[in-house]
Amino acid sequence: MEERRVWDETQLRKYDVPLVYVPKYRYDDPKVQELISANKPVIITGSELVASALNWDVDYLKEHMNNSNCTVIFSKNHKFKYFDDKSVRPDVKAKFVPPTRKVGMKMAEFAKRLREWKKGDERLYLQQMLNNTVGPGIVHDFLRFHWDWINSLQKNMSWGPLTSNLLLIAMEGNVTPCHYDEQQNLFAQIRGFKRFIMFPPEQFECLYPYPVYHPHDRQSQVDFERPDYMKFPKFKGAVGHEAVIGPGDVLYIPIYWWHHVESLMRGGYTVSVNFWYKAGPTEKIEYPLKGYQKVAIMRNVEKMLLEALHDPQELGPLLRALVLGRYTE
Ligand code: FUM
Ligand code: FE
Repeated sequence: MEERRVWDETQLRKYDVPLVYVPKYRYDDPKVQELISANKPVIITGSELVASALNWDVDYLKEHMNNSNCTVIFSKNHKFKYFDDKSVRPDVKAKFVPPTRKVGMKMAEFAKRLREWKKGDERLYLQQMLNNTVGPGIVHDFLRFHWDWINSLQKNMSWGPLTSNLLLIAMEGNVTPCHYDEQQNLFAQIRGFKRFIMFPPEQFECLYPYPVYHPHDRQSQVDFERPDYMKFPKFKGAVGHEAVIGPGDVLYIPIYWWHHVESLMRGGYTVSVNFWYKAGPTEKIEYPLKGYQKVAIMRNVEKMLLEALHDPQELGPLLRALVLGRYTE
């Protein structure tokens, strides 16, 4: 059956990246588990994972969130590039200019700002962990998530524990620039449409992540809107996997897969909840190693070298001395 599309191509931002589609299957199709076990993205329909939350809009949340405090990120443009300056070295932190700012506020205040927002104002993006302070109404909906389905998936995939659920409320057009996470993610869409452009860990070289000690660790240095091909020539070889998801859809974002996320333009605000799981225990190691295992090794090598050298400035010269003319043609 041809599904009714409620968005069109003009609502998608344009990038100079070739795209292929992420496959879409019903939750009970064996292909779903097949793709997830192979660490490949898939759009899952019909799971009813967050059916009990499909009425979550800012007014409902305002009423039921028990006055709890929410983290809201403000950006002067449409990009919300994640950073973590807590665990970074003081010398690196001193030179870092945060691209966004975080503010704690009540849902009622967020709803008001969203309603009164006008062009030229800073954009907002609410990103709040669902915890025990959210209030009984929200807990009630949360408990009616389709846990039977997701718990059995977690078990079948031998994933580790569920670590957190993040509630995301984005203004239309907001962008989370390309990055990867170190956990498995089932991303449930509740309201509006989000578009994902994903890249497998094997495309590490095309995406040029920041060094691990940088506050933008795990983020791509490439600005998709103005790629600097002199600095990042291999970005020309990147091929993205595209998924547009709407209310009721769940997207599997495999651990270490890169993802750029945008709320469609002119689509109203979006509401989503993600489910992050720790990776499962490593079973028998097979060679050659997989792309994501190599990324994990590279991260460890960088961390070890930094610990040995102390000064991040010394990392580049040492790595060049190790490689140039020896492991390069
Ligand atoms: O903006 C986003 O929805 C980002 C999600 C993610 O990085 O998992
Ligand atoms: Fe992410």
